[in-house]
Amino acid sequence: MLRFGVVLTYILLIYFQTVVGIWRYKNILEEKELFIVDRNIFLEYEGSSFLEWQYPEGCDVNNKSSPHAVMWCKAPGFQAVKPLLSDMSTDKEEERHLYISDSFFRLAWYAVIPLLRNASEHDSQIVRIWVIDPDRADEAEINNTAMIPSVYFRYLTKRLLVGGEFAVIELFSFPQTIQSYFTNQGLWEARLLRDSEYHHLHIISQSVSFHGKSVASSQHVFYGTSPEKPYGDKEVPLRLTTGSPMSIVWGACTPYRALLLSDKGTFVTKNAFLTYKEIKVDPGELLMPSDGYYVVSDAVLLENGSIFRIGDALFWRDNEDRKLRRNPMKLLDKGVKGLSFRTHCADHYPLQEFELATVLAWTDHELYKGGKALDWKTNSSYMSNILSIPKTATILTAAFGSHPASLSALVMYTDSVQLSVLTSYENEGVWKNRTLWSKNVLQGPFQMLFVSAALETLLVWNKDTMLYSFHNDSEWRYLQIMDSSNLSQEAGGSHIHHMIIDHSLNMLVKMENNILFFCKFGTNKLFRLPTWNDPGRSVVLYLNQKEQITMLTMLDRSLHVQKYPLQMEIRSAMREEVHSCPYIGFTHNMNRPVYYIDKGEGVELWAQIVNHEGENINVTLSRNKDHVLHITESTHFESAHHLDTTNKTFNIYQDADYRDMTNNSDLIWNSSDIVSMELLPTQIANSCSLPKNRISHFFVGCPPNRHIRVIKPQRTPCQMHTFDNYTIPGFVLSNSSKDLLVFYDWKSFGCVLRIHYKDEFRPDIELYDGEAFVRSVDANFIVWENFNRKDYYFNATMRQVACLHEAQTWKSMLVDEKRPEEAWGPHNYRSCFVDTTEKLGNLDQPYEIMNRSSKNYLSFSEEYNAIYVFNLKIVDPNYSFCNLRAVFAVQTYGISMVDQLSPHYQFLIPFLISLILLCFLFYRYTSIFRDMLQKKCL
Ligand SMILES: *[C@@H]1O[C@H](CO)[C@@H](O)[C@H](O)[C@H]1NC(C)=O
Ligand SMILES: *[C@@H]1O[C@H](CO)[C@@H](O)[C@H](O)[C@H]1NC(C)=O
Ligand SMILES: *[C@@H]1O[C@H](CO)[C@@H](O)[C@H](O)[C@H]1NC(C)=O
Ligand SMILES: *[C@@H]1O[C@H](CO)[C@@H](O)[C@H](O)[C@H]1NC(C)=O
Ligand SMILES: *[C@@H]1O[C@H](CO)[C@@H](O)[C@H](O)[C@H]1NC(C)=O
Ligand SMILES: *[C@@H]1O[C@H](CO)[C@@H](O)[C@H](O)[C@H]1NC(C)=O
Repeated sequence: MLRFGVVLTYILLIYFQTVVGIWRYKNILEEKELFIVDRNIFLEYEGSSFLEWQYPEGCDVNNKSSPHAVMWCKAPGFQAVKPLLSDMSTDKEEERHLYISDSFFRLAWYAVIPLLRNASEHDSQIVRIWVIDPDRADEAEINNTAMIPSVYFRYLTKRLLVGGEFAVIELFSFPQTIQSYFTNQGLWEARLLRDSEYHHLHIISQSVSFHGKSVASSQHVFYGTSPEKPYGDKEVPLRLTTGSPMSIVWGACTPYRALLLSDKGTFVTKNAFLTYKEIKVDPGELLMPSDGYYVVSDAVLLENGSIFRIGDALFWRDNEDRKLRRNPMKLLDKGVKGLSFRTHCADHYPLQEFELATVLAWTDHELYKGGKALDWKTNSSYMSNILSIPKTATILTAAFGSHPASLSALVMYTDSVQLSVLTSYENEGVWKNRTLWSKNVLQGPFQMLFVSAALETLLVWNKDTMLYSFHNDSEWRYLQIMDSSNLSQEAGGSHIHHMIIDHSLNMLVKMENNILFFCKFGTNKLFRLPTWNDPGRSVVLYLNQKEQITMLTMLDRSLHVQKYPLQMEIRSAMREEVHSCPYIGFTHNMNRPVYYIDKGEGVELWAQIVNHEGENINVTLSRNKDHVLHITESTHFESAHHLDTTNKTFNIYQDADYRDMTNNSDLIWNSSDIVSMELLPTQIANSCSLPKNRISHFFVGCPPNRHIRVIKPQRTPCQMHTFDNYTIPGFVLSNSSKDLLVFYDWKSFGCVLRIHYKDEFRPDIELYDGEAFVRSVDANFIVWENFNRKDYYFNATMRQVACLHEAQTWKSMLVDEKRPEEAWGPHNYRSCFVDTTEKLGNLDQPYEIMNRSSKNYLSFSEEYNAIYVFNLKIVDPNYSFCNLRAVFAVQTYGISMVDQLSPHYQFLIPFLISLILLCFLFYRYTSIFRDMLQKKCL
């Protein structure tokens, strides 16, 4: 019996080692997995027993007995293709069903950045864009080395331009359109900033066609070049132990930067393996390794260097001097059991003023984290301890969590055989322990990976089985293949090498013998994909920034880079009924990485799912924190032509009431939080397609750059730089009696509004996010004069605005000699329109609070032309998380100089009047006297 087993294993091994009848195919432009009617498909057989290609009637092949043939198909749909092998061969003839589509997107954008000589660092770069027809493209255009269009493509591009085609160029990282212009060279040009080491563009086409062919929108990536110094004699290589499978790490936000470890050397790329280079180290003060190379087990790639785990210590290699250093900045130097790199990009994560970790390292009982760069010259330590567990427990592995800010360690307690997962939000630092239950006892060593999700979702695997725990549940489930959970058995005894998962939840498990299993994560059935690579080769999978899978094969100390057409392979393998997706289409509009929600604001999202009648399927929105935001849902359902369409609308809003917070709860009042949400159909299957965007973060707090502006009334002139200084007479100041000379700060106070002294004025305010107008503000606000002038008034009384009790006033708020900035604000504002037990008070006092709809206005001194600088502050506690303030200045006019003088020279007026009266009397007297004299004379 035992003997039989051994023989069987041997046969299996032989079987899997002799499957060399491997064949592959590719499209002319590897960029697209678009296989179209009439377009060339390159077939390639690798092995010795090839006879000829077998292909369906709808297709044709240039030379069917050539192992490197070109095929094209006239008919759309699945086309079964396989190589026929000689009878002697023991190889399996593996059939594929290539899906040929009848797309009219037969033209493609071509984009190139010509290298400019003498260009300086700060010059902008020009990208040239034209249209090509891949069927007629020459080698240079396929290699992306052409700098100008050929005569035909120039003609083609011009014809399309005349038809209305133009290239809309968007930056991929954040939707921003770049201006482009058409040049007389027959191409579009656009300027890119040079300071970026990498440009990722999305070129979007219009719906224009030429002879029935349209241009497909596409992504284009350009990388900066940074030539490296060649190595001398003293640098030594870094290698994995002989015979170990390759491993790879890449930047979560910068996937084009990757580090590949193999037993032949360590390689680095900065351009997604367009080019790569071996990295070596200068041993510096360290002992020269006896074998001539260092044996590494793990590595991570930081911004300015790399960390390697050699033995049980961490070493630093700086990009500048390429020296290997032990223990710089207290890098852990003993007992290190593992090293792990950030897996989900946190660049857009709205956690302000907090740098999330990039690296995790652990010993048996301690977990450490490190940032994205290490400056070995400074004295602070790079790694900080974030978790220490008792000696009765051991850390098996650690990884970054499902959420950009979460971290996790897989732990086993000595008195238990179950695995526990300890998880914490980095910014909160509280560790949660979850024991995950499984029926079987699991053997290590373990690896762990968290899938990006709103609710913690993770995969844990050892050499031959994979387990997962979904959406915060506490049960392990096995990923199964053909009803067995032992992947190893299904792959001829080979072990799990590594796995990758893309944003659309496509998951590939690669075995050491290069057998690939696929599943859409969320279903628990893995599926074997056709063989793509020789089982004996050393291969590793890499996912680039366009989410394309690349196979990196080590052939004679150099890397062979091949695109892997995952979509096509899945389609070919999943065309049977069992894999059919329960829905036809799933779309939603949750497409921003971050949504900002201020007090009282909300976001409306929709998700639509279309399915065949009768399938019971819906959409779920899951989130990691329940108490922060409210969600209301409404569903619109429609059924027509045996298709059900469900459109679910989610109204996500914040409505906490901050009015009753006491003075000392400022913290709660200002506190912000981040909620992650995920949109998914309730059921998925392996053949389903999912939108790339599943998760968005909702930042509840003050949105970045939110501020208020006082609008300048249209007909009121607002003047700049009309004076430098002015004097405020002491008797209108509330805090002193001396005249105050004010130097007006035009930069911070802005222009002065010229207002007639008899006019009433009420500032209108608008809310802005950066330069973007949000809305007009109707909240209550207060004003105070910056230099403590008190000669301005409010024209409404508390009674006139219908207060229910005495309202707050500056006088009542400024007791205890507080500064006006702190004395009154949202934290202590009480509305007088809310009935409280407060005493009625004197309602005939002026009401000092204004808003957009109130009849309360500011009026100014009627004795002086004056300049006022007002500070303005919103006091409604439920209006915003932001501290909303503004400054505006008013200069009154209309009082004549004499009038202005009056207060000081009031005594002059009676004097003058008496004088005039006296003169008049004197005149009267003299005239009477003269009259009398005259009469006398007569
Ligand atoms: C077809 O391919 C075979 C094998 O490579 C080659 O021997 C033969 O000459 C080719 N025929 C033509 C017509 O090119
Ligand atoms: C295109 O690339 C292939 C393979 O990399 C190379 O052999 C060929 O010379 C290139 N052609 C041009 C025109 O750059
Ligand atoms: C779903 O409904 C919302 C409004 O409730 C609408 O704005 C949206 O366009 C609908 N989605 C689709 C795909 O029709
Ligand atoms: C105030 O400004 C005037 C000009 O506008 C200038 O002549 C005068 O010297 C300034 N006063 C002081 C004290 O700087
Ligand atoms: C205050 O002045 C404004 C503008 O002149 C006027 O519309 C409003 O009625 C006045 N309010 C009161 C209470 O008199
Ligand atoms: C604006 O002020 C008036 C009193 O002037 C008040 O009745 C009204 O409720 C206030 N509006 C808001 C939005 O608070």
